[in-house]
Amino acid sequence: MMLIRNGRVIDPGSGTDGVLDVLVDGPRIAGLGRYAEDACTEVLDAGGRVVAPGLIDTHVHFRDPGFTHKEDLETGAAAAKRGGFTTVVCMANTKPVVDDPDTLRDILTRAAGLDVRILQAASVTRGLRGAELVDMDALRALGAAGFTDDGIPIMDTALLTRAMERARDLGVPISLHEEDPALIANNGVNRGEVSERLGLGGSPSVAEDVMVARDCMLALATGARVIIQHISSGNAVRMVRLARSLGADVWAEATPHHFSLTQEAVLEHGTLAKMNPPLRTERDRREVVEGLKDGTIRIIATDHAPHTEEEKNRPIDKAPSGIVGLETALALGLTHLVHGGHMTLPALVDRMTLGPATAYGLDLGTVAVGAEADLVIFDPDERWTVSDLASKSRNSPFLGRELRGRVTHTIRAGRVVHALR
Ligand code: DOR
Repeated sequence: MMLIRNGRVIDPGSGTDGVLDVLVDGPRIAGLGRYAEDACTEVLDAGGRVVAPGLIDTHVHFRDPGFTHKEDLETGAAAAKRGGFTTVVCMANTKPVVDDPDTLRDILTRAAGLDVRILQAASVTRGLRGAELVDMDALRALGAAGFTDDGIPIMDTALLTRAMERARDLGVPISLHEEDPALIANNGVNRGEVSERLGLGGSPSVAEDVMVARDCMLALATGARVIIQHISSGNAVRMVRLARSLGADVWAEATPHHFSLTQEAVLEHGTLAKMNPPLRTERDRREVVEGLKDGTIRIIATDHAPHTEEEKNRPIDKAPSGIVGLETALALGLTHLVHGGHMTLPALVDRMTLGPATAYGLDLGTVAVGAEADLVIFDPDERWTVSDLASKSRNSPFLGRELRGRVTHTIRAGRVVHALR
């Protein structure tokens, strides 16, 4: 048995927030309270730091198979556990695309023994081409966590409606990348002052808004659980709020970069601030923060998107979009949302644990007797400078930045898989 002593246990599900010991027996939590050390083979003194459910990231790109020079399942898991994550959901834009049983089976088999629970989403359409649905029943039966064409919007409304109906019947979410390409000149940079200065056409927020409006209404009509991925536009946040108030089962993800940065970051960091959808205006950023605060957005997801240095050194209109995020996510939440005075610590923990678990129907994200002992221990105040990363890629605008809040331990199924000291 392992005893985690003297931690501030935060469990968003039960509302627990207090200094308690956590008793771990094998892969499960055996008790919460005060315990003697005698019967325990391992004692971990949390020293007043926070003990919370292991973090859950429902949006990562581990690039495996096909782009393993950027990341693979092992290095992705290494980055995840360093960031305090015990469960991740990988996106389907690999090579081959996760649109058939063999590819899905291969990934899940190779992921099974790793230190982090790696779940895999399947694509909605074959080859991400937007024309023909995958065999959703077969992929779900094999364990697909959900369905998404992330990276590419689904433009065929009738096809998407059918996919929503099937996802609803299978009891899994369908997650959507919301940017209408017809309205975009160059992706990755918001259309506005910054894109004009750079001589780029950019990607306007209305390209996101029109898609979110359509899909909120389709969610309402079909009853499907729809997750709006990496929401970045203030009007889109308002649309999700409205749709939820109408009874739609619509959820939204916000990334740490969209709640921390604005389009001006492109001037400072160049391609390291290029992502889809792009960083937008301060008004948009504030609306995202407001959405996180009032629960309109219940999921913080990183969109961990590794790319090589060579690719990111290309001119901004030629470089790929996306940044790595697993190792800085919690600290960005603590720095900008909690220390910034916008959200309480339990609310932040909810958006990184129980919120995502609930959206994906996972029986995870709690610190409770009998629950899986997936835990993170972190110091919410410690200042540290982002330097070395466990990820294979280094495309982060936060390298060299001082942040507040540091993960010291990650525990997965009762085993310490990451210890800082
Ligand atoms: O910036 C992004 N990069 N957004 C996406 O949706 C896809 C991702 C990638 O795969 O690189």
